[in-house]
Amino acid sequence: MPVALVLQTALRGATSWAFEIETATDETLADPLLRSCISLALDQKNPLPESYRLEVAWWVIQIHAGDPAGAFYAVQTLLQLLPPAVYQAVARMDIAWSLPCLMIEDSPRFRWRGIMLDSSRYFQPVGFIKKFIDLLALHKLNIFHWHLTDDQGWRIEIKKYPRLTEIGAWRSESPLGHFAHFLGGDGVPHGGVYTQDQIREIVAYAAERFVTIVPEIEMPGHAQSAIAAYPDLGCTGNKLNVSTAWGVHENLFNPDESTVEFLQNVLDEVLALFPGVFIHVGGDEAKKTQWRNCPAVTARMTELGIEDVDSLQSWFIGRMATYLAGRGRRLIGWDEILEGGLPPGSTVMSWQGIEGGIVAANAGHDVVMAPKQATYFDFYQSLDTACEPLAIGGCLPLEMVYSYDPVPAEVSAANAARILGAQGQIWTEYMATTAHVEYMAFPRLCALAEVVWSLQATRDFENFRHRLATHLKRLDRLGVHYRSPGDPYSGAM
Ligand code: ACM
Repeated sequence: MPVALVLQTALRGATSWAFEIETATDETLADPLLRSCISLALDQKNPLPESYRLEVAWWVIQIHAGDPAGAFYAVQTLLQLLPPAVYQAVARMDIAWSLPCLMIEDSPRFRWRGIMLDSSRYFQPVGFIKKFIDLLALHKLNIFHWHLTDDQGWRIEIKKYPRLTEIGAWRSESPLGHFAHFLGGDGVPHGGVYTQDQIREIVAYAAERFVTIVPEIEMPGHAQSAIAAYPDLGCTGNKLNVSTAWGVHENLFNPDESTVEFLQNVLDEVLALFPGVFIHVGGDEAKKTQWRNCPAVTARMTELGIEDVDSLQSWFIGRMATYLAGRGRRLIGWDEILEGGLPPGSTVMSWQGIEGGIVAANAGHDVVMAPKQATYFDFYQSLDTACEPLAIGGCLPLEMVYSYDPVPAEVSAANAARILGAQGQIWTEYMATTAHVEYMAFPRLCALAEVVWSLQATRDFENFRHRLATHLKRLDRLGVHYRSPGDPYSGAM
């Protein structure tokens, strides 16, 4: 959808302004005084990707952008300069729609401005995924990292291997609270699948909003749903169920050639659906007990001349990196892919802390910062946990997200550009509903959006808090179930 159409559509609802879209002529360009309009122009002289200049004068609004994404972000800014009711779909004749006269020159600090959503632990319907992408775009976030497979559910239809979703997408129940091993499960079957048609629709929807989807297919750990569907992929040969427990599981893919081939066939279908350069292969929390204890894996290691299981994981991930590189794509994985040696060309997502990111960046690898201490939105939002819905643990108040600087001091100036950006993580073990996902995401996502867009030197939490009050009115209009920072139980914030 052309950006002019985005603007026309956004304005039509609440303001009832029925702008016509016209391609400018030399005459109109030469004399913007001719009539009032909003002009959008791509400015080839403007070298910064995603940048824009927005000028509001009393007779005309002019947008000059470095590229279409920049024009789209100018439109987001323009909408945010109007009263929050602009986000309402119904006509508001009672509002005097006016904008301040101003000039804004703007461009993002980072090119990777992301949010990860876990759709495996709990499945979210397509309508929610689209709403979520809209909200990313409104916050000028451009990466939707979509966690599609895990022990508790395989969510992406793979035509060649239908059992992945026929079996792997469904579990018999979900754990009840933190003490499920005592309390048991909820007894309610849970599941869901994104068909390839739905995924194509979502990818196109995201692209229109300048959001790239980075799909994640977990390997060699977090593999139980796939092994439940195809037991030959595992190490024990035992028949497994799709997991009904949270936590780190022991069931890994085996390193046989047939399993590598299976996963590469899966990747073929993933690549056909997701055109973005980066493909996430997980790599986290692969406890290697089964690999260590399995004679067939030991024999395979001897055959490959590999001496330890960490190096075996490195070999496994390396096979995928080479496969993806041969198809013009790039592998990204959680920071455990550093163990045993990082395959060349791989990008590291630093989640256990910032150390993985520092090591990788200083070794000349690209890095996305996702440290749990600053970006895990599944953590509690307040120390007063008794007044919060049950969460996985931890504590990440809004101010901590807001004050996070993605470039660690330990990364040399020469390698700072290796930090592509940062992203927030929404692991959904304790978020059974989409309202709960929104509660955990907002307003922390708003703080993160500023972290990845604007310069660290401009960070001012009091100022942010003041602006957030207006921003929450926008989220109200959009029906976002955010956590109110004014909540009496919200501790410091
Ligand atoms: C992770 O939180 N296991 C990446």
